[in-house]
Amino acid sequence: MNSFPVGGAEFFDIFFDLAESGRANVRRGYGGWVPEVYDLMEGDFEDDLPMILALARRVGGPVVDLGSGTGRLTIPLASEGLDVFAVDSDPMMHSQLRRNSEGLGLSITSIEAQIQTFELPEKARLAVCSTNTFLYLGSLEEQRRALANIRRNLAVGGHLWLDVFVPKPNPSAEEPYLTSHRDPDSGILLLYGAESREDHFQGRSHVNAFTLVWGRKPQPEVYVQSWTYAWLHPAELTLLLEAEGFELVELLGDYEGEAADDCAVQMIAVARVRP
Ligand SMILES: C[S@@+](CC[C@H](N)C(=O)[O-])C[C@H]1O[C@@H](n2cnc3c(N)ncnc32)[C@H](O)[C@@H]1O
Repeated sequence: MNSFPVGGAEFFDIFFDLAESGRANVRRGYGGWVPEVYDLMEGDFEDDLPMILALARRVGGPVVDLGSGTGRLTIPLASEGLDVFAVDSDPMMHSQLRRNSEGLGLSITSIEAQIQTFELPEKARLAVCSTNTFLYLGSLEEQRRALANIRRNLAVGGHLWLDVFVPKPNPSAEEPYLTSHRDPDSGILLLYGAESREDHFQGRSHVNAFTLVWGRKPQPEVYVQSWTYAWLHPAELTLLLEAEGFELVELLGDYEGEAADDCAVQMIAVARVRP
């Protein structure tokens, strides 16, 4: 299928055929996750939470959760009594966030917008952009636009917490990845597969993925997704932040707060808006 940047591996051909057949729900761009599947596969991830909550308690709200998804961070942040703006471009993610936060009495404002162009009704004291979401923006130009816009929406002295992976040579990066997950409560079975191609000149990974869901609807559901990660090396990230009016407070290499070094697989930039 031409509109998918990776192709050829037999493993994936059946899913390209399905996408073309009109019998699959095709989602493109921005890591277009199926929200309920996202919750089943990623919803339990909590490693970054203590660090984010500690920063939020220190700097205060309002907080803007950038690429808020189904509320994995939005809900705990709002549960601290903070006003949270949940910015996500995907209406399906917002619907799932509403379902997840219903009846909790939290101050969450859903804003369906791009990170590059959102506008908050009041300036935030903290912006959080977790789990590689910033890399989904797909190019350095879009990352610059996003940082400029984040800065516009933060109060002077406001903070940004940004978590992205450190690009590293990885011999198995282009091997197909396949995993399955059975939800013990609902009995829903998921099969998830991904295949990526690394472009070291452009500094990007192009990813194709599929999700099969059994047990939720009478028919199995098939989703096909495609997106691009635009990598950022530590020096690039630092320069980008400085160019867009932030000062880097610290560059951490894990969620325990260790400084980033050659062993780090993630880098967490804590930056502050320069006056
Ligand atoms: C990896 S998920 C992270 C969700 C959540 N923050 C978490 O940590 O679980 C990335 C989210 O960012 C959203 N997203 C991706 N690109 C975006 C953009 N340019 N503007 C707004 N939202 C975007 C996606 O729709 C998705 O919900």
